[in-house]
Amino acid sequence: MTKSEAKERIGKLRKEINYHRYLYHVLDQQEISDAALDSLKHELDRLEQQFPDLTSPDSPSQRVAGKPLPGFKKVRHSLPMLSLNDAFSKEGLYEWEKRIKKLLPSAEFDYFSEIKVDGFAVSLIYEQGAFTTGATRGDGMIGEDVTQNLKTIESIPLRIENPHEIMSGTRIEKNLKEFPNLRKIIEHIPKRIEVRGEIYMTKKAFLEVNRAQEKIGAPKFANPRNIAAGSVRQLDSKITAGRKLDFLAYAIATNLGQETHEEEHVLAKLFGFKTMELAERSQTLDEIIKFCEKIQREREKLPLLIDGVVVQVNQRNIFERLGIIGKAPRGAMAFKFPAEEAATRVKGIIVQVGRTGVLTPVAILEPVSISGVTVSRATLHNIDEIRRLDVRIGDTVIVQRAGDVIPDIVRVLKNLRPRSTRQFQMPRTFCGQPVIRKEGEVAHRIAHPEKCELVTREKIYHFVSRNAFDIPGLGPKIIDRLLDENLIQDAADLFFLKEGDIKPLERFADKSAENLIRSIRSRTKIELPRFIYALGILHVGEETALDLAKYFGTLKALESAGLEKLNSIPNIGAAVSQSIYEWFKNPASRAFLERLQRAGIRIQPYRQSRSAQKFSGKLFVLTGGLETLTRNEAKTRIRERGGEISESVSRNTDFVVAGVEPGSKVEKAKKIGVKIISEKEFLQML
Ligand code: IVH
Repeated sequence: MTKSEAKERIGKLRKEINYHRYLYHVLDQQEISDAALDSLKHELDRLEQQFPDLTSPDSPSQRVAGKPLPGFKKVRHSLPMLSLNDAFSKEGLYEWEKRIKKLLPSAEFDYFSEIKVDGFAVSLIYEQGAFTTGATRGDGMIGEDVTQNLKTIESIPLRIENPHEIMSGTRIEKNLKEFPNLRKIIEHIPKRIEVRGEIYMTKKAFLEVNRAQEKIGAPKFANPRNIAAGSVRQLDSKITAGRKLDFLAYAIATNLGQETHEEEHVLAKLFGFKTMELAERSQTLDEIIKFCEKIQREREKLPLLIDGVVVQVNQRNIFERLGIIGKAPRGAMAFKFPAEEAATRVKGIIVQVGRTGVLTPVAILEPVSISGVTVSRATLHNIDEIRRLDVRIGDTVIVQRAGDVIPDIVRVLKNLRPRSTRQFQMPRTFCGQPVIRKEGEVAHRIAHPEKCELVTREKIYHFVSRNAFDIPGLGPKIIDRLLDENLIQDAADLFFLKEGDIKPLERFADKSAENLIRSIRSRTKIELPRFIYALGILHVGEETALDLAKYFGTLKALESAGLEKLNSIPNIGAAVSQSIYEWFKNPASRAFLERLQRAGIRIQPYRQSRSAQKFSGKLFVLTGGLETLTRNEAKTRIRERGGEISESVSRNTDFVVAGVEPGSKVEKAKKIGVKIISEKEFLQML
């Protein structure tokens, strides 16, 4: 980059960084994540280091946080809602410990670590057990009253209950044995208690919301954190209610006599809050670092987004004595994981064809590291998405890897756009065929997918993939070779391959030929849902495949189903049933199925497990305290077995499960002759 180019870029970057910081700190809005903003700042830093005389004294990192927005009632926090200092490495944690030990050389303490949820902080106040006020963090001193909205979130209890109401006696005793100090605290519901924690959305709920947005043509949300924040700060609580939000408690801000932070977690759980399961007490930083590494490894698989681990001095009195520096307590530290978002530039846009003939535009990116993985491509989904984002070759974009394996472009930083860019257009022809867009469809597709060799390839990749036939060792590279050598034309041919066919291929040793054939042969027996999914029928993903398997039980039954029948299946819409119907009617599909049969593929009929049906059609009422299960656990077990639960006893009730001190429901059941069973009998039924 020349100096004058650098000057222009630095100017644009500064403007952009200032803009986002203003949005965040003054207007309490956020368009891009902290991580994305960080990557812009890093680029600015790099350029300023490269050209030191272009540095300016008004560094964009000097801004101060503003006041909360008008619109909600203000709430003054009884104790400030602080933030945390960050450590990005082990060394950061060791330095922190050194500072603590220097300040309080003779203090004896241990640590408590827990996941840092990437959500939205709130404080919940309960008076005489009732949830009275819920507030956002705001500027830390004054937040906004969002009680009404928080009440729509089911994981926030509206009342703090006596633990015996919600938990089995055995479980309570187990906790009290380890934390005897809590016995006197839970004797009475506290007069006033403030619980703090994080509102968040699971990755799954996030994907569902975005799918729904897509269906109605509404803009998609950038990430779960944005929805959580946006939904809590809604003036219309109906909107909040429609979003599947969750709450995890991380602290009890009121002094009820708890001695450690760990006790706060246990207390919160006893009082009916969801707390971080991924948490651990440790004596040394080495143990903590192992814990952080474990969490980091499991991060992708977790149902929610986290951005690090919070480590705290466990003993509350020592934590207090350590005091506050700036806006963060000295006794706590956030060990931050690498960002799941980054800014990078679009080098090009290519078009790929999938197994159903749909064309997908893909952005080729300047490689960038996101949570330790280098990303160089991001799907752009379809032309509508490209228009919505207005992404062009040369643009600087924010790329995200969240809850989904395929990286996504979430926004374009328009101010950083080079001068001469053009809108992207879909090609008119692809694979030697016209490209069409059917009415009412967002996707472009090729007119005759069966005649495109690239589509055949995709179909075979899909057929052998993990959730379909799952043939180990048979990846795209080998499939490409088999196709290129004319050894296979479609997936059925794989099962007819002989060792001798592939041995002569260059770089195919005896051993690997043998292994490959063995691997293919080992997968001739297959469950029905996998088989249906493997066929790659347009609109039939894993879930639909499972629905079809459940409904029809065998391939024969599915094959011969008429359109009307397909239309009547719950969860399956008109476009999907049409596509299934057409697929099975097509002579080429029939020939393909026949060849699979000849190759010795055996499809196992779908049977619901016996335990799944045990309580089917049975209505249960639970009353009184259970000793070995919580209410929720009991409910889950009933539902898992196909049963239903009702709050009140009626003639439709099949069983009343009576725990300790069961109350009036048992009387009523006796009166109308409903069967009453004990907890023990219930367990036996399970
Ligand atoms: S403890 C003194 N624990 O992270 C502040 N915070 O960066 C006490 N957060 O504002 C915070 N998960 O909203 C704590 N397990 C956890 C957390 C957590 C997420 C958020 C919290 C806080 C922010 C600070």
